[in-house]
Order: sequence, then structure tokens, then C-alpha cells
Amino acid sequence: MAVALIVLAAGQGSRMNSDLPKVLHRLAGAPLLAHALRAGASLAPERTVVVTGHGAEAVEAAVAGLDGEAICARQTEQLGTGHAVAQAGEALRGFEGDAVVLYGDTPFISPDTLEAMQDKRAAGADLVVLGFEAEDPGRYGRLLTADDRLTRIVEAKDASTDELAVKLCNSGVMMGDAATLMRLVAGLNNDNAAGEYYLTDVVALGAAEGLSARVVTCPEAETLGINTRAELAAAEQAFQARARAEAMDEGVTLADPDTTYFALDTVIGRDALIGPQVVFGPGVTVESGAEIRAFCHLEGCHVSRGALVGPFARLRPGAELAEHTHVGNFVEIKNATLDEGAKVNHLSYIGDASVGAASNIGAGTITCNYDGVFKHHTEIGARVFIGSNTCLVAPVKVGDEAMTATGTIVTSDVPEGALAVARSRQTNKPGFARRFMDMLRTRKAVLAGETTPEAE
Ligand code: UD1
Ligand code: CA
Repeated sequence: MAVALIVLAAGQGSRMNSDLPKVLHRLAGAPLLAHALRAGASLAPERTVVVTGHGAEAVEAAVAGLDGEAICARQTEQLGTGHAVAQAGEALRGFEGDAVVLYGDTPFISPDTLEAMQDKRAAGADLVVLGFEAEDPGRYGRLLTADDRLTRIVEAKDASTDELAVKLCNSGVMMGDAATLMRLVAGLNNDNAAGEYYLTDVVALGAAEGLSARVVTCPEAETLGINTRAELAAAEQAFQARARAEAMDEGVTLADPDTTYFALDTVIGRDALIGPQVVFGPGVTVESGAEIRAFCHLEGCHVSRGALVGPFARLRPGAELAEHTHVGNFVEIKNATLDEGAKVNHLSYIGDASVGAASNIGAGTITCNYDGVFKHHTEIGARVFIGSNTCLVAPVKVGDEAMTATGTIVTSDVPEGALAVARSRQTNKPGFARRFMDMLRTRKAVLAGETTPEAE
């Protein structure tokens, strides 16, 4: 059965106390909204509609930047969850299949849970609602059941004392035939305590026309919605705890798991070794058998099999490390490829560059890639030896098997096999240092009153 996702993301999120729309706050390096979309992606949706409202422009720009082809539908006034779902109608025109309602601020719904909901649909339920046993039901909507049927959902604000005693709560996630759902939300009214068009009322509306509704339950932790910065921080911890456990299950060694930080999309191969205090920003893949030593920060980069990174290295977007490369302490690599076996071991900046196989970049080498306005490329061939403290003023090329002398400032291309030397020649002044030091020490003694110039 084809699936469409409707992700509600129009609310203000006022308790975040932020200028940034709530769904754009980051969890594991990705906007909350990306987590919701990723959860839904397990259903291989044919269409995805994100309902935007507060901060719509920013949210729509973020959606455009994410993987996938989500369509945005504006809800210009936030008149309730049912009204929000109705805004997706236009984007779902002509779609045949099931619609699943998800929430941009609810990041942890699992693929298993969504699959269980699909199974209930396949077993004949017209509507499937995701519920959970709440530790503190508080202001959640309550799922009212008779036998195993869901008869109605009542919002806490509208509930009687008896209804409030029900512990089975509404997560908000709902699944049903898209056309049916759209027809039902079109029939909602806002005659309730909040004066809103409640999505939850589709259950009773459906029941009145003979449609059946069923509940699937999941652990409360999955339905966790983010409303405050404290909840965001708690969700981050929950995410990291799970990501660490998953990585170890998949055969990754974490030297000190509590200090490894993953992003939503981090991919690490089996038998990779990760030292303490390593942070993975978005877009990192580390292949099997690579080693990332302590105190590294990686984002938007690829580390191949057998590579050795750190300690104290920074890999920025576009860093591509081939097999058996080494990147050592206090080295920054940005938008640069290191071919097989290349080494940049100490105190270097390699940006907008390519480094050929088996080349060695000496300590303190800098690619001077920026002229204040434009970025320029440095091309270093294979088996090149770059002497310590070389500055490569881009754009510049160093041919295969060439060398640069220590301290060289390379401003023009170096032909293959050549040695480039660009520094002033050394002269030695015999005895100068000793005489100079004696003179300075005497001057200091005079200033301290220990002696007079005549005494010299
Ligand atoms: C909703 C459910 C409640 C459930 C709870 C779970 C309804 C009527 N109530 O209540 O049963 O227990 O979620 O958290 O559905 N949104 C829009 N446009 C709107 C209104 C809301 O996009 O006009 C979005 C919000 O951004 C938010 C989500 O829908 O992500 C839920 O809205 P919210 O107002 O928080 O609903 P609750 O009162 O929490
Ligand atoms: Ca809510």
C-alpha cells in the first residue's frame, strides 16, 4: 500500500523561548524535523507533506535542504491539529493510499511502531492511532476504548473526571486511508474547550459512519515531544545513549562511550576504533578498521579503511581520506582529498586541496587558500615531500615526486621531480651571539644598580 506522510510543523513552540522555529532546533546535529522525516522514511513514502506555519519561510528553506522531496503546505493560522492536516489536502490530491500523521517535534517514533500500525491497518482497521501508557497523563488526549475498539479521543481540557482517570494516552500519530482522512478532517468543527479543530475528533466522526478505529501502543519514550530546551537536552542524551549502544552492537569499539557524540546520519563501519571525546557532526562516514583517536571533531567527511586520525584532529566538510592515510594532532582538513597513504601528521591546515598518494606533508604546512574574497585550489601530486613550515599560496600545483624545502613559500608551480626553495640563504656571524648576550646581561645589571658602567 502506498504511503504519504503528513508532518505537522506549524506550531510556535513558545516554550522554547526562541526566535528559531521549534522544529529547526537541532538534535544530534539535525533539525528536529529531519528526525520526524527519517522516522517516516522507513515506510518508503511516495509523498511527504510538511505543514508549516510559524517561521514558515525558515522551515520551508530547511525542508528544501533536506534529502527527499517533501512538499510544504502552509497553515497560515494555527486553528488546531485537524485544521493542520486539512492543509495537506491539496498536496495529496490524486494520491491513493494511506496517510500517516507525524509531528515535527516528535523525533523518536520507531520503524517497528509504524510497521505495527500498518499491520493493524492490513488487519482491517480504518483508522489506527498510536497510544501509550503515560506515567503522568496530564494534558494528553485520552484514548477511550470499548473492547479492543477505539471509540473516541477526548482532550484533557474537555474530559470528565472519569475520562481523566484513563491512562492510555494519544501520541497524536495516526494512520488511515488518505482520502478518508481528508474527508473526515473536512467535517470537523471547533466546538470544544480550546476552540480548535481537533484531529482527534476524526475517530468519533468515523465511528458515526461505521468506520473502525484501533490502537497500537508503544513505549512512552518514543512519543516524547520536545517543548522546552530542557526536553531538547534530555532528548539529546536519549539519542546519544541509543546511538552509542547501536554502534557497539554493530561492532564499533568506543573507548569511552559516554564521550562519543553521534549525529543523526553518522555511519561507522565494523571494527573501527573510536577514542575518547570524539564528536561526529553531520555527514560523516568512517569505514571499517579506521581509527579515530581522542579529541577529534569530524563533520561532512569520509574516512576510509585503515586511516588513522588524531588525536586532536579536525575534519571539516569535504575532507576525503583514502585508505591508510594519516592525519595527526592539530591538523585541520577542509574540502580536500588525501589519496592512499598520504600523511599530514602535525600542526597543518590543508584546505581546498588534493594530496596525491603516499605524499608526506611536513609539520606546520599551510595551504593559503583564501585571498580575502575567493578560495583557491592547491594540487599536490603523488609521492611528494612537502618540507616543514611550507606555505602553499593557492592556486598552485606541486608535481609528482617533487619536494619543497623547509620554510618555503610556494607561489608558483613546482614541476615534477623538482625541489622548490624559496627562503633567504643563511649567513653565520662568528661569535656574535656570545658578544650580544654579554652586552645585554651587563645592561641589565647596570639598570639593577649592581655595577656601574665604569666598572666594566
Ligand atoms: C495533541 C493531541 C493530543 C495528544 C498530544 C500529544 C489534538 C487535538 N490533541 O495535543 O490528543 O495527546 O498532541 O502530544 O490533536 N500543530 C500545527 N498546527 C496547529 C496546531 C498544532 O501544526 O494548528 C502542530 C504543532 O506544531 C505540534 C502538533 O501539531 O507539533 C501538536 O499540537 P499541540 O498544540 O501541541 O497539540 P497538543 O495540545 O499537544
Ligand atoms: Ca504537544
